[in-house]
Amino acid sequence: RSIKSLATSPSSHILRRGYASEAVPQRKVTVLGAAGGIGQPLSLLMKLNPLVSNLALYDIANTPGVAADISHINTRSEVVGYASDAELGKALEGADVVIIPAGVPRKPGMTRDDLFNINAGIVKGLCEAIARHCPKALINMISNPVNSTVPIAAEVFKKAGPYDPKRLFGVTTLDVVRAKTFYAGKAMVPVAEVNVPVVGGHAGITILPLFSQATPKANLSDEEITALTKRTQDGGTEVVEAKAGKGSATLSMAYAGAIFADACLKGLNGVPDVIECSFVQSTVTDLPFFASKVRLGKNGVEEVLGLGPLSDYEKEGLEKLKPELKSSIEKGIKFATQ
Ligand code: NAD
Ligand code: LMR
Repeated sequence: RSIKSLATSPSSHILRRGYASEAVPQRKVTVLGAAGGIGQPLSLLMKLNPLVSNLALYDIANTPGVAADISHINTRSEVVGYASDAELGKALEGADVVIIPAGVPRKPGMTRDDLFNINAGIVKGLCEAIARHCPKALINMISNPVNSTVPIAAEVFKKAGPYDPKRLFGVTTLDVVRAKTFYAGKAMVPVAEVNVPVVGGHAGITILPLFSQATPKANLSDEEITALTKRTQDGGTEVVEAKAGKGSATLSMAYAGAIFADACLKGLNGVPDVIECSFVQSTVTDLPFFASKVRLGKNGVEEVLGLGPLSDYEKEGLEKLKPELKSSIEKGIKFATQ
């Protein structure tokens, strides 16, 4: 559909909010791992996003069926499936945003780091292709362990050069989504109004929700804050155990991934004040990568925002998470530079 026909469609008000009278730009989004547990619902949600004009779905298995299925939906984007390594370049060419949910998920009893041996190689290969075919795209890294896969991607991009840290994001939105849901339930406030920053990384104690900054404010006890923090940190494990060997979070992750990709697209399109938490190259702490609030813009990261005032409990959590996060980052760097 042309931009002209979009402008006259019933959803054009929504499309145009924040753009004044400018047309909606063409934007290509590529999903790597599109036929997986996350990939399928995430691709569906990207197909529903009016900011997307071209949706490229790549996987090493089952892509044709998923792409054919999604392509019948009568929304703006044109969908093309890419099914083999030989087609990866075409899937990536011209991409504005590349979302990566490729790789194996956890089973009960595993940590995210237990996925390193398989997923590190998958992510490295995909990032080498990204460096060749769409070096200017914004990368949304979902594959675990995010605390290591993002540093792996950075090293791959450095080797291929030039590396632009503003374009590389570890997706930690699911931690924020969980923190908001759990906080709303405990604080008895409307979930749609809740905001909670989540900083650090994306594994166990490296996930640090800042409930002292949560809004709307609520008078929660120290015990309640401790329980909320622990539940947010263990949210992934809660789902892994409930799925009992059939994988990890897919539907909530697809939702979270769609929110983050939408924020990237809005930033690219010049919408002001788009802020999300993400695991990015950072000087907020002494660690080279750290999740915190990030302002998104036309070049990706416009500004990495500071942590703001922390409670004593959060300060303690911050110091506790640093050694684990540091070692996960170093493990990724070592893998990619060897
Ligand atoms: P899944 O096994 O259902 O799907 C993974 C898909 O990746 C499969 O379709 C597979 O064919 C594909 N794949 C494997 N190697 C590939 C390659 N080289 N190129 C392209 N595709 C490839 O797994 P899932 O449940 O969708 O989870 C995917 C990853 O996302 C896991 O590593 C999981 O731990 C992670 N995850 C991250 C978060 C987060 O918050 N960042 C949340 C949930 C899951
Ligand atoms: C999550 O937080 O749900 C994901 O990182 C998947 C997992 O292994 O927990």
